[in-house]
Amino acid sequence: MLSGKVLEQSGFREEPLFERIIEDLSVQRYSISDHFFNDQAVTLLRDSLLEKYEDDKFRKSAIGDHFNEQVIKSVRGDFIHWIPEGQAGPAEQIFFDRIGELITYLNRTCFMGILEREFHYAVYPKGTFYLRHLDTFRNDDRRKLSIVCYLNDDSWDPANGGELTLYLPGEDGEVAMDIYPLPGRVVIFESQVLEHEVKPVKAGERYSITGWLKTR
Ligand code: OGA
Ligand code: MN
Repeated sequence: MLSGKVLEQSGFREEPLFERIIEDLSVQRYSISDHFFNDQAVTLLRDSLLEKYEDDKFRKSAIGDHFNEQVIKSVRGDFIHWIPEGQAGPAEQIFFDRIGELITYLNRTCFMGILEREFHYAVYPKGTFYLRHLDTFRNDDRRKLSIVCYLNDDSWDPANGGELTLYLPGEDGEVAMDIYPLPGRVVIFESQVLEHEVKPVKAGERYSITGWLKTR
């Protein structure tokens, strides 16, 4: 358990963390933070995800008629549960409070004009993946920043696969960067700029929260 004192101190570490995220985004269009959420928050969020997953609250990430479903499943195999903020439990409240602090900071220091946020839990069972894509579906260009927070526990092994691969445009051509879904790690990137994919999960189940910060 974190003492009040540690929590209070962590408040003073937030600004440097947010500053680094902004610096990273402006230089390289993405940012990786390994301690955005502490172990306690990650555990609470994972437990909440698992409770909902076992309660059958998750759905295939996209549905359609039989034909479409085939097409979609070949693109994306995860199961998701959108998090209604009105029904946020204690775990989700911690999550949204922290994301809210980031949004306030982004709007205050970069005038990003973030007005909305939407997040879902995601489970990638063994064998699933998400092919290369850009996070701008349904002609919706309001998504500015994509945020992914990984929720597995310490037993997650890089050999399990499920890397997030970001395709970074470079002067000598594209660079594919693999990011492992380590517990507590948060990856933020520009939704309309960086194509990315989730590599197949070879073992275990991959847990995360994914969402978007949106402008009007
Ligand atoms: C997505 C996505 C990445 C990840 O849900 O759009 O790209 O690492 N997720 O889970
Ligand atoms: Mn995506």
